Amino acid sequence: MPAARPTDLMRALAEAARLAQRAPSVFNTQPWRWRVRSNALELLREPDRTLAVTDPGGRQLLLSCGAALHHARLGLTAAGRRIAVTRFPDPASPDLLARIDVRGRAEPDDRVRRLRGAVPRRRTDRRPFGATPVPEAALRRLREAAQVEGTALHLLSRDQVPALATAATNAAAAEQADPAYRRALDEWTHRPPGSGDGVPAGTAVPAGPRAVPVRDFAPGGTPGLAIGPGDDSGTAYAVLYGPGDTAVEWLRAGEALSAVLLTAVVEGLGAAPMSDVLEVGESRRMVRSLLPEGRPYLALRIGVPVAAEAPPPTPRRRPGTVIS
Ligand SMILES: Cc1cc2nc3c(=O)[nH]c(=O)nc-3n(C[C@H](O)[C@H](O)[C@H](O)COP(=O)(O)O)c2cc1C
Repeated sequence: MPAARPTDLMRALAEAARLAQRAPSVFNTQPWRWRVRSNALELLREPDRTLAVTDPGGRQLLLSCGAALHHARLGLTAAGRRIAVTRFPDPASPDLLARIDVRGRAEPDDRVRRLRGAVPRRRTDRRPFGATPVPEAALRRLREAAQVEGTALHLLSRDQVPALATAATNAAAAEQADPAYRRALDEWTHRPPGSGDGVPAGTAVPAGPRAVPVRDFAPGGTPGLAIGPGDDSGTAYAVLYGPGDTAVEWLRAGEALSAVLLTAVVEGLGAAPMSDVLEVGESRRMVRSLLPEGRPYLALRIGVPVAAEAPPPTPRRRPGTVIS
């Protein structure tokens, strides 16, 4: 029997899954897969893309998958589809993270259109930002973007930043001293040709004037992106957090991460996630003590970009290997 022809709806679902390929992910592991059904899109995790050394509990894997889920949701709603999302729809299939059902049509609002438009322009920017502080109104909109997705965003006060810097410095030293960490970093920064994943040296930035150091993606090598003219003095630091550490909270925190990063693009801001501060016990406790309550999920740096060019795009896995 010949295979059934894909419908317009199935094509729209596959298109949303392709858009979701652009989502940020830890070490650019893209630890997800998509299944296109006749009127639904299913998101699955790829457990063998878990980073065993830095993310044994899979928090960052689920944050990454949540970001992809938010990207796919935006793709569908911006294309005029009304959707309903069920997270962890089948207790017997823990790798099935979410199902997006399409329930007809709905006119997208301006916010959805703007965020969808920001997807191809978003990049992780590790360079020092400028001296201009991030406007208060923009910070408020970033906080609201997270809140709409059910996760809180704590903006660090000026006097909390040195503690984050100490946490980041200590975490980097502990990780660099660990041969298993160095092997994992080497694996994800030196990918086989055509793998379409990993962090290329072209997006790594030399050490420089930053209040809080960023993860070194080219240790002992040559970072490919010039540090640029920023002195980083206007950079804001924030932490996504919530009451607990359940899988659904991590997935939703990833959706909030995507919403915050895309809102930053709309606001003309640059941003970069920073997870190393939460990968080492003592540093994680320091970051947690900066929060009003709850558990930290991911730290972020956000600022006004001053470099003339955006960072280069990072590669993505071929849609044919990720979408079925
Ligand atoms: C959960 C998570 C953790 C991340 N941790 C870091 C980090 O510690 N340092 C960093 O520079 N980038 C971090 N990133 C950014 C990724 O490296 C980046 O998304 C990936 O390389 C793809 O590049 P792009 O964001 O420019 O598309 C993280 C992203 C996610 C989703």
